[in-house]
Amino acid sequence: MVTHLPPAHDWPALEPGWVWLCGAGPGDPGLLTLHALNALRQADVVIYDALVEPAILDWAPQAERIHAGKRGGKPSPRQRDISLRLVELARAGKRVLRLKGGDPFVFGRGGEEAQTLISHGIPVRIVPGITAGIGGLAYAGIPVTHRDTNQSVTFVTGHDQTGETPGSLDWGAIARASGTIVIYMGMKHLARITAGLIEGGRDPGEPCAVVTDAATPRQRVLETRLGRMVDDVAESGLEPPAILCIGRVTLLRQVLDWQALAAGAAPRDLDPLGRRSASESA
Ligand SMILES: C[S@@+](CC[C@H](N)C(=O)[O-])C[C@H]1O[C@@H](n2cnc3c(N)ncnc32)[C@H](O)[C@@H]1O
Repeated sequence: MVTHLPPAHDWPALEPGWVWLCGAGPGDPGLLTLHALNALRQADVVIYDALVEPAILDWAPQAERIHAGKRGGKPSPRQRDISLRLVELARAGKRVLRLKGGDPFVFGRGGEEAQTLISHGIPVRIVPGITAGIGGLAYAGIPVTHRDTNQSVTFVTGHDQTGETPGSLDWGAIARASGTIVIYMGMKHLARITAGLIEGGRDPGEPCAVVTDAATPRQRVLETRLGRMVDDVAESGLEPPAILCIGRVTLLRQVLDWQALAAGAAPRDLDPLGRRSASESA
């Protein structure tokens, strides 16, 4: 167990009556920030979400644990209850750590919780985390950008507050916007999402990946094509939580699957984008 934080830094105290909203990263406890670890070491109470990897809570053995387990897409009548519980605990003089998967401000309702706290006069600190749409993909060997494929990335949620595909999203515009599209909570409406992207102009043959339980020992990765994604996901039996990545960056997994390399596998293709042959012929 990590017992000390690095020296030569003025680590902030989590004071009684404060709430720190911290990101826990996508899974691997090693992806916590030092500020999150500092919070875990001081908290009286940790209110955590379903996607926080349980081993992370072992770093706060002194703290009371409260599971606020909502899972994506479902209506969330309890969101207000969770926020008010945070207010109540802070007013009771507790050092409160609100621990959320990934980054608290990325599709994580951290903004809403912080608003409620601040409007009730509760002092807060925000501790960003590594979001699943970047760190989770990196654990699958997929960089969200690469100079040869894309100059921009689009992050999208596949659910709105009601659990439906966000009606306000213009899938045609999303399809045209960037070389890489990263979709959170996309499994429930996968058929509508992929159809929308293809109608919007994306090539059904475009390489894609689905990464479930990224950065955990349960991580699974499916490499597929946009037009086959729905069938391949059904056949694979993959279940949420999942990050969908659409774009040629997913081909890079053939060389960058560092977990497979560490386990002794050889790279499947050292040049999956065909970059060397392109530059040789140029
Ligand atoms: C409510 S959102 C929270 C996102 C989180 N705040 C973040 O920054 O990663 C939950 C969704 O994030 C994605 N997600 C979070 N952790 C994941 C993981 N370890 N593996 C795959 N997807 C993950 C899934 O799409 C899941 O349905």
